[in-house]
Amino acid sequence: MGIGVYFIGARGNVATTVITGALAIRSNRATGTGMVTEGPEFRGIGLTGLPDLVFGGVDVNSKPLHEKAIELGEARVLPSQLAAALRDELTGVDRNIQTVQGFAYGAIPKGGYLAELTRIEERIARFRTDNSLDRVIVVNLCSTEPHFAETADFDTPEALMAALPKAGGGFCTGTLLNALAALRQGCAYVNFTPSQASELPALRKIARDSRLPHAGKDGKTGETLLKTVLGPMFLARNLKVLSWMGNNFLGNNDGAVLDAPASKDSKLRQKDVALREMLGGAFVRTDIQYVPSLGDWKTAWDLIHFEGFLGTPMTMQFTWQGCDSALAAPLVLDLVRLVDLAWQRGESGMLAQLAPFFKNPLDGHTHDFHQQMAGLYAWLDTVRAGQTRERK
Ligand SMILES: NC(=O)c1ccc[n+]([C@@H]2O[C@H](COP(=O)([O-])OP(=O)(O)OC[C@H]3O[C@@H](n4cnc5c(N)ncnc54)[C@H](O)[C@@H]3O)[C@@H](O)[C@H]2O)c1
Repeated sequence: MGIGVYFIGARGNVATTVITGALAIRSNRATGTGMVTEGPEFRGIGLTGLPDLVFGGVDVNSKPLHEKAIELGEARVLPSQLAAALRDELTGVDRNIQTVQGFAYGAIPKGGYLAELTRIEERIARFRTDNSLDRVIVVNLCSTEPHFAETADFDTPEALMAALPKAGGGFCTGTLLNALAALRQGCAYVNFTPSQASELPALRKIARDSRLPHAGKDGKTGETLLKTVLGPMFLARNLKVLSWMGNNFLGNNDGAVLDAPASKDSKLRQKDVALREMLGGAFVRTDIQYVPSLGDWKTAWDLIHFEGFLGTPMTMQFTWQGCDSALAAPLVLDLVRLVDLAWQRGESGMLAQLAPFFKNPLDGHTHDFHQQMAGLYAWLDTVRAGQTRERK
């Protein structure tokens, strides 16, 4: 028995780093640096241990996980010796990862959307029974998909299910179907990407009615993390931000995917939300450019033009060079543990306490990172208080 973690995009950079990292930590080859839940505040609250996590999922890429880990070792994303040391364990996880066809946005999947939904549900069900799992958390780590225009069909589960058999191309993305399948299969769901998924009204209702937790969207790992730390500083000092220009250079597969205009649009929608909502009238622009030689080392260069006392103009610039997968992977492990804890406590629906992990937290009330962390710590206090009551 264990907790299933089922990745959509299980052979991608982030998923491979999560799986290799968890295997390395549980065999004492690495520590949990970068994992929020390894901090002192989280001690003794009954978080699921990494050895209890059983990984699996799907990918359109058939490259074995072990080979992908070697590649990431050569690129210095992972310590170079880990892939060799964990070869057997990685091969074991690979047995739980299925190569699937997927479908491009705009195309109709083989047999139609309903047939695709059924296939996805059967795979998840098989993962659960094959591994005798207590609970399964589906985590979306798939390539970013275009933003589609939702219609009234997405307002209720009934309307959505009625529309699926007759829907034409471009009705929805694979991510939407995966999220729907996860919830219909009684799984918790986390959307680490900018794609549309469980935030749509029909899916929110399924999660509420089925008493399932979900969280999203788009992991906050680098430049946006800094924006949500620095933005509140300018506000607190009553310094007026006039313009905030962000340039991101990225060279991994995620960067290549985001080079396509429709996927880039989907990502930029999430990246600018925080600053726009925090800074009101400031001129905010972010761009992402694909620079192959940078690999996973995403470089963000930001220029902040602001006004001080008596209208005096000033600027601030910063350069952030982060290894994208090494920043994202520990947060994915945190999200799995925290969603599982909330689930065990009977919490369901969108989990607002997980706001600090996302660029666009759907039910969070603030973009201020420190306020978001205060919300998470306040939730921990209620968890502890509940546990104390149960012990009495
Ligand atoms: N790394 C970060 O810091 C970060 C932060 C926030 C969000 N994200 C998002 O997380 C996701 C994963 O990032 P990554 O760097 O691992 O990207 P990646 O390109 O390395 O991995 C994505 C994986 O999804 C697979 N895939 C594509 N279409 C699929 C489909 N239809 N079904 C199943 N699998 C499919 C690809 O083959 C690939 O293995 C991206 O959407 C990215 O935007 C990453």
